[in-house]
Amino acid sequence: MNKYSALFKPGSIGTMQLENRLIMAPLGTILIDSEGGVTDNLIDYYRPRAAGGVGLIIAQCSSPNMEAKALYSLGIYDDKFVPGLKQLFQAIHKEGTKVAIQLMHPGLLIVAGGLVAPDVLVKVPSITSWMTGDLPYTEVSEADIEGYVEDYAEASRRAKEAGADAVELHACHGCLVGGFMSPLMNLRTDQYGGSEENRMRFPRRIVERIKEKLGKDFPVIVRISAGDDVPGGVTIEEAMRQAVMLEEAGADAFHVSAGLEYLTGLNIPCYTYTGAPILPMAEKIKSAVRVPVIAVGKISPELAEQIIGEGRVDFVAMGRPLLADPELPNKLREGRRDEVRWCLHCNNCVSLKLPLSCTVNPFLYRERLSMPPPIQSPKKVLIIGGGLAGMQAAVLIAQRGHNVSLYEKSNELGGQWNIAAAVPGKECFADFTNILKRSLDKANVQVALGANVTKEQVLAMKPDAVVVATGAVPLGLDIPGISNKNVVQSNDVFTGKAEVKGRAAVIGARFNAIEVAILLAEQGKQVSIVSRGKLGGRKGPENTFVFKTLSRRLLELGIPTYLNTPVLEIADGSVVIEWGGEIVFLPADTVILAVGAQSDNLLAKELKGLVPEVYSIGDCVKPRDAAAATFDAARIAEKI
Ligand SMILES: Cc1cc2nc3c(=O)[nH]c(=O)nc-3n(C[C@H](O)[C@H](O)[C@H](O)COP(=O)(O)O)c2cc1C
Repeated sequence: MNKYSALFKPGSIGTMQLENRLIMAPLGTILIDSEGGVTDNLIDYYRPRAAGGVGLIIAQCSSPNMEAKALYSLGIYDDKFVPGLKQLFQAIHKEGTKVAIQLMHPGLLIVAGGLVAPDVLVKVPSITSWMTGDLPYTEVSEADIEGYVEDYAEASRRAKEAGADAVELHACHGCLVGGFMSPLMNLRTDQYGGSEENRMRFPRRIVERIKEKLGKDFPVIVRISAGDDVPGGVTIEEAMRQAVMLEEAGADAFHVSAGLEYLTGLNIPCYTYTGAPILPMAEKIKSAVRVPVIAVGKISPELAEQIIGEGRVDFVAMGRPLLADPELPNKLREGRRDEVRWCLHCNNCVSLKLPLSCTVNPFLYRERLSMPPPIQSPKKVLIIGGGLAGMQAAVLIAQRGHNVSLYEKSNELGGQWNIAAAVPGKECFADFTNILKRSLDKANVQVALGANVTKEQVLAMKPDAVVVATGAVPLGLDIPGISNKNVVQSNDVFTGKAEVKGRAAVIGARFNAIEVAILLAEQGKQVSIVSRGKLGGRKGPENTFVFKTLSRRLLELGIPTYLNTPVLEIADGSVVIEWGGEIVFLPADTVILAVGAQSDNLLAKELKGLVPEVYSIGDCVKPRDAAAATFDAARIAEKI
């Protein structure tokens, strides 16, 4: 019997029959045209996910009116979008998969998502003190609300006409509808604010109106936040009452998420969360309603099998795992679990940087390229450096048919990624190194370890192409005392090479610095953070989801953090800082440097012009995140 028999049992949501219990969660993409229309790239992105074996795809958020337009939202506010949506839904149906589409007015989410179009109005139930930034926040009027209700019903009509099997109402994470449901965001005194019943009037009206317009048979899933994850926000108890009210209004299922995205990272839980943090809330909602409940958020297939088998929830939705590996369900069903490219929950897929990518799947959003054509005449290709970029490039280039050798100067593959995997919570990052190692074997890449290759050695091997992936080295600081014995690099603390004695001061405020401070504080050490810049990096954090969880942990642990604070010197037993216009000796027996890295690109420079093709990839071009490294690798693999 299949290990996942409960997961692959048929199920239903209202009148919609599903082949199994796995659902693709809605995931906004920017593969849409400037108006929000469906593109060929978008169809290419959904097709493998439909073929990959989920029972239902909840296609990404779509805008029920012009005002709800977001850079990552499909348009569904006009009949002109119906033909494109029809094409998309047909492509999904062709693979035997059902499809719903999510309807969303982002409201405040337009800010939290970081992708704010310049001309956008930020519509909110109420303007609160904590809505920051120089943005055109606008309170919606009662007349607006009546219009929105009709917009959602019309959008549902278009979805049905285009062939969708259901719609999902986005009523969570602090979007416009979710905002009305939250006491933190809804401070209104009219019939849409105040009591719990009043705050539910808007979402209830939407569900009722969709049902009036399209008939009771057309399934409406409601995605709710079963808790805002912020003091004063929706609690699980209130969320249970909200679900009951929405069930009365006609909801056919609840998709249980959580977290007010502007203020917490819980809705896309990154590696810092242990287990499946939203699941207990989904189980509570299940106990309150009779219709099916969909759980989501860092749920592994094994946990999914268990909770569905035990009737604790009815369906499990997966988001990031299907970005990482669209074929995940089929691989499970066919007993090929060891072939799955597992999501690491690193959240590089929701970084503020473009182009967006996935660390373990560099072909994400470029699905058409995922099979670069086999080559006619194999080349001799040398890859120098066995970190993520080098390994990924070696695999892809060898898969195309070239003869590839990989040289790594240390005695193990993985490079700086091994340091990342040593950070508590990131242990699963090692899974990716292991997958790449197996793939290197499979693709017949010759791997040489302990091989610190020089320019002369490269030239002697007469390669046709060299890919330099020599990574980066940690930066120091040009201040007195930097060479003292008590100064160590954060990387060495993570790997256990450096011992931290007595009181510690971390210099730097990027994620690496915050993580090392958290590690030490959790070990019971007295630690502080000092940085010339902002928390999260010089320009602020690139990944707000990870940042929110790390900064919250800093607060919980009470780690003193001195920002905009230059470090002048490392003295005996202290770090000399300039704080509030004064010189302060901050006590520190061990000083930990976490001030970034510097590219190691010497070999690439030396080889330029001496080998027919020389490419640099990964951190040796510029220190960036791991998704950028594997993205570089895929780009180069196409070229050679
Ligand atoms: C790239 C990306 C885009 C997302 N877009 C949406 C969206 O449009 N609507 C929504 O309700 N949730 C969105 N989410 C949240 C996911 O639907 C899902 O709830 C979350 O990723 C947690 O599930 P997972 O652990 O299986 O990834 C998005 C998440 C990611 C990573």
